[in-house]
Amino acid sequence: MRRSVLGSATGGPAAGEGSVVPLRFSPFSPEKTRLILVLVGLPARGKTYIGRKMARYLAWLGFAARVFNIGDYRRTRLGRHHRHDFFDPANVEGNRLRNELAALALDDMLQWMRDGGQVGIYDATNTTAARRRQVYDRCVQQGLDVVFVESVCEDPALIEANIRETKLTSPDYEGMDPDDAARDFRARIDHYTRAYEPIHEEDYSYIKLIDVGRVIVMHMIQGYLPGKLVHFLMNMHLVRRPIWLTRHGESEYNVLGRIGGDSALTDRGLAYARSLATFVRDHAIRPPIVWTSALRRTVETARELHLPYMAWRAIDEIDGGICDGMTYEEIATQMPEEFAARQRDKLNYRYPRGESYVDVTQRLEPVILELEREREPVLVIGHQAVLRVLFAYFMDKHPGEVVHHDVPIHTVIELTPGPYAFEERRFSLDLGDWHARGVGAAMED
Ligand code: F6P
Repeated sequence: MRRSVLGSATGGPAAGEGSVVPLRFSPFSPEKTRLILVLVGLPARGKTYIGRKMARYLAWLGFAARVFNIGDYRRTRLGRHHRHDFFDPANVEGNRLRNELAALALDDMLQWMRDGGQVGIYDATNTTAARRRQVYDRCVQQGLDVVFVESVCEDPALIEANIRETKLTSPDYEGMDPDDAARDFRARIDHYTRAYEPIHEEDYSYIKLIDVGRVIVMHMIQGYLPGKLVHFLMNMHLVRRPIWLTRHGESEYNVLGRIGGDSALTDRGLAYARSLATFVRDHAIRPPIVWTSALRRTVETARELHLPYMAWRAIDEIDGGICDGMTYEEIATQMPEEFAARQRDKLNYRYPRGESYVDVTQRLEPVILELEREREPVLVIGHQAVLRVLFAYFMDKHPGEVVHHDVPIHTVIELTPGPYAFEERRFSLDLGDWHARGVGAAMED
């Protein structure tokens, strides 16, 4: 038998995203969730973008989700700088190595699923029926559900934009002239196009996305999670626009150190609302859509913008239940067991007759879907706990990682979409004049 240059499936770091987290988190993730999402499509059709986006959404919902990207396996095991002829179906050695890499990534993914993973995302072209059959059979033998997600795009402008944005900056083309790199990548696409068989298999569950969701075809999609993913993918678009997150201006309860409640803004809080209005006027290319909670302090902050705003109950601060209106010191002395329980597990702790961060995450899901769907800039005026959870989604963090993060008042967190991830900038408006600090010199954590 020929010795593989790729190493064993168990050795070395697996490529991909995420990690298995203890699942005490989501009622959406009963133990039996075991799903494989197999991406399908020619190069530069946004598969990696779609795969990572699904992984981020699923991880935020509490699923152990992880991407296995074959491109990463190739770069890790064989090095970078593979030119287009490596991908030529007539290149026997290239084919052998690519098949081995595909098998290796599949083995790793199946092992990860046996170790407790819940949603494995297999990010490869999978453009031939034969390859899909192999992947499907292996997954089904292991008792896993499989859904194929195919991205089809024939719009030359979209393909070219994708090549320029994501491929030329990939390690594959580091240091290469951009035009030569683009030419090479187009030749790589041509090789795949010759062998491409779009998904048509009658016995598979699949979602076919045509031109970034202009048309969506669903075939045998059943069950809670695949249905959720269809809804999620329907909201996907490529329009770049900022999302701003800010807490309300300082409230009377903030000054007293009391949690929750529905107090009004202080004079300082009102001054922040006015600074925020100046910031938005000077900084926004177009007036943003403004969302607040239904609580007085966020609505009073929004009023100073003199823009339409929508007040969502879903954006209300975490409900402190019987602790609402107390200070942390009062909770610690009057209800030491509650205080200690929250310190032990802030993510899952639910205030008696109130909420936990898990509850907050669940009620924020429609807000996330609307934020995904919206193509205009959006300003969310919210509260500490809800902003932590929204921030976790955009910055690809498990909500458990952010429950202790500082979200200061009088600060705007700007999130701008990059090719695969959001970039974060923070503007402190506490001095009343954000120009004084300069946009470039914005405070960043
Ligand atoms: O203190 C302001 C506040 O928004 C409270 O109303 C809320 O209970 C708290 O922050 C949430 O932060 P933490 O989860 O850290 O207690």
